[in-house]
Amino acid sequence: MEIRILEGDERNLCNRLWAQAFSRGERSTNWIGDDEGNDEDKPPVVVCGVFDSAGLQACLTINGYQLYFGENVILPMGGIGGVACLPASRGKGYAGALLKFAIDKMKEDKQPISALFPFSWEFYRRYGYEWVGVQRDTKLPTKILSTCLETENVRLLEDNEMERIKPVYEKFAKGYRACLKRPESIWKDFCTHSEKRFRYIYVAEFDGEIEGYVNFTLPEEGDDAHLREFVTLTPRARRALFGLLKRHEMQFTHFHWKAPEDDTLWGAFYHWDIETKIRPVYMGRVVDAETALALLKPSTYFRGEFRLKLVDRYAPWNERVLRVAFGEGNVEVEETEAKPNLRMDIQAFSQLYFGSPDADYLLRAGRVTVEDEVAYHALRSLVSGPPVFTNDHF
Ligand SMILES: CC(C)(COP(=O)(O)OP(=O)(O)OC[C@H]1O[C@@H](n2cnc3c(N)ncnc32)[C@H](O)[C@@H]1OP(=O)(O)O)[C@@H](O)C(=O)NCCC(=O)NCCS
Repeated sequence: MEIRILEGDERNLCNRLWAQAFSRGERSTNWIGDDEGNDEDKPPVVVCGVFDSAGLQACLTINGYQLYFGENVILPMGGIGGVACLPASRGKGYAGALLKFAIDKMKEDKQPISALFPFSWEFYRRYGYEWVGVQRDTKLPTKILSTCLETENVRLLEDNEMERIKPVYEKFAKGYRACLKRPESIWKDFCTHSEKRFRYIYVAEFDGEIEGYVNFTLPEEGDDAHLREFVTLTPRARRALFGLLKRHEMQFTHFHWKAPEDDTLWGAFYHWDIETKIRPVYMGRVVDAETALALLKPSTYFRGEFRLKLVDRYAPWNERVLRVAFGEGNVEVEETEAKPNLRMDIQAFSQLYFGSPDADYLLRAGRVTVEDEVAYHALRSLVSGPPVFTNDHF
């Protein structure tokens, strides 16, 4: 068996494999594309493959994204976009070997964190990934809404005005950990009409400032509408856009969208017919703990110190004892010979680093071993911050 990065035309070999795994063998699929990361609008994609005597047997892609981690931090992230193995070669450890290879590659490419949308939580947990964030999938019947005067401030966004909602998204995204700093390719998809249907982007605009937007296509008759994105920076923008959605009562009786853990919908109103499902946002992993910690920019009010020991079978560089000291908004991290005063596995540390579930939750769940209370409180304040959310899939 040989594992290597696929370059040039070789990348197209993956299409056949992916077609079998994800699109019922459809022949027209072009998953990987042949631009080899030369298109500036798209994130760079690394394609890794496992070869044996019969050729390419399994592949995995790493998308190079940037994530907002609150107001002041942007982190390079390796987004695992898919893993597939030919049916006759499954169960031989090929997918596992690719994940191990990808973790090494992300470290080399200076992507200190990684994330993925799992087909199985169990499968990726063994490679150090763990669920992070809590998202609220909300479904709401149009009939319980009412229009209001503020709905007069809603208008359809013109095709040439896309630039105007990007700052609204950015402001929203910086209020969370893990929203993508969206590459142009995502913005293009965001506003493209599908072959069959128009896409509608409505904005709520007050005194020339856009305070919120909603993006959707109309569903098949009888189906619920899915809002691709529903972002509001102010309560009045949400009221205004709800009024607009109310006017779609004849086109759909219900609509649903994905909202972050701290969404304030219930603060505006509650109704028995609102359905809210909660589930993890996705799985996260810290690839390189030393770099990831050093990139944080804690509040200047916080200072502290701790010594951390992680268990990380697939990233042995994370198993060194790290001394972490922070103050004045900076973090210093170095290897130390001293004994650690905090211990945990990489799965718990990844959750802590993404910030949801938080330190107290993990402590109560028995996932963190504390030998020094002061050290624990230092760690707790270092990783405190906004919730995890993303509205993009990869
Ligand atoms: C999932 C997949 C990539 C695994 O490939 P593989 O090379 O057989 O994986 P490995 O040999 O490294 O690991 C096999 C292990 O994964 C486990 N596994 C496989 N599919 C699983 C699933 N759906 N849920 C949970 N575990 C699963 C197996 O039970 C096995 O565990 P074991 O080692 O304890 O026996 C392969 O089955 C596949 O291509 N499936 C179709 C595409 C897909 O679903 N990809 C993942 C989503 S992006």
